[in-house]
Amino acid sequence: MNTLRVAVTGTTGRVGAALAKGFASQHQVIELPRQAFDLADPAGMARVLERLDCDVFLNPAGLTGLEDCLENPALARRLNAEAPGEIAAWAARKGVRLIHFSTDYVFGGREPGLRHEPDPVAPLNDYGRSKQAGGQAVLAHPNTCVMRISWVFGPEKPSFVDGILHSALQHEPLAAVADKFSLPTFTRDLTDWVLALARSEATGIFHACNSGEPASWHDLAEAVVDHLVRSGRLEARPPVARQLLDEVPRFRATRPRHTALATGRLTALLGNPPRPWRDALADYLDTPPAPSN
Ligand SMILES: NC(=O)c1ccc[n+]([C@@H]2O[C@H](COP(=O)([O-])OP(=O)(O)OC[C@H]3O[C@@H](n4cnc5c(N)ncnc54)[C@H](OP(=O)(O)O)[C@@H]3O)[C@@H](O)[C@H]2O)c1
Repeated sequence: MNTLRVAVTGTTGRVGAALAKGFASQHQVIELPRQAFDLADPAGMARVLERLDCDVFLNPAGLTGLEDCLENPALARRLNAEAPGEIAAWAARKGVRLIHFSTDYVFGGREPGLRHEPDPVAPLNDYGRSKQAGGQAVLAHPNTCVMRISWVFGPEKPSFVDGILHSALQHEPLAAVADKFSLPTFTRDLTDWVLALARSEATGIFHACNSGEPASWHDLAEAVVDHLVRSGRLEARPPVARQLLDEVPRFRATRPRHTALATGRLTALLGNPPRPWRDALADYLDTPPAPSN
């Protein structure tokens, strides 16, 4: 198998850190954290790109907080829409394969059901609008992919799953939103899928998440505590209070309710469907944390 030179942005983030580590076992990775490659600085970006020599460019970096995007829509547009377009134009000139990362929040999610790649988008917030614009800007160029992912968890950075895990083990009260549905994505699985996509010649939009019934955060929290009881880390199953999306005061940006992604294109690429999210979650919860240096 040929070793590829792979540039990865956002390597201090959840997805970028996972990709940089996962790709490094098979490929030569060039890490581009914000200090080396600031998406807010077009001239600085152009200088780095001018000198960059790679076969594949992975772009998970961006402004990912919904409330951050609400407060600063111009920055959201710059990082999530304009910068990916500039990277894609450079990649097209250089013949570099670009995989850009987007989100299930490009969908309005008013009706239950799975969202397929060609389904109409209708983002409800500045984050989703900026990510959708970035995806379009990327797809205007050849040899590009936009991977839409959802509810990412993994060891790289604490997520909702880790919050529930920690609170359950500390015997703190648990509560989670029960009227908003998506599908979780384990970073270890995501890395395998991106490795396969990077090696392929496939282009366009790919939906990527673990499989199973669409889940609410409440379902995910219950799956965490159930696993802790089954594996003997908790003696009794603590209750998880059901919250309503509209009752969470810190959520100021509007969130879509039904954004679970259908992964038929990814399944065709891999030859197998992504494993069920409950299996991926159990795998993650059973993996001891890596020793910190
Ligand atoms: N996590 C999820 O559940 C989820 C769900 C759906 C889609 N996604 C998409 O997946 C991608 C990766 O998400 P993530 O979870 O890894 O996000 P994350 O943990 O918030 O990481 C974001 C990364 O972007 C970097 N960044 C922020 N501003 C930057 C700038 N001006 N220039 C360069 N880099 C900058 C951050 O660097 P600093 O550390 O320096 O801030 C960080 O490395 C995003 O495109 C997101 O839209 C994520």
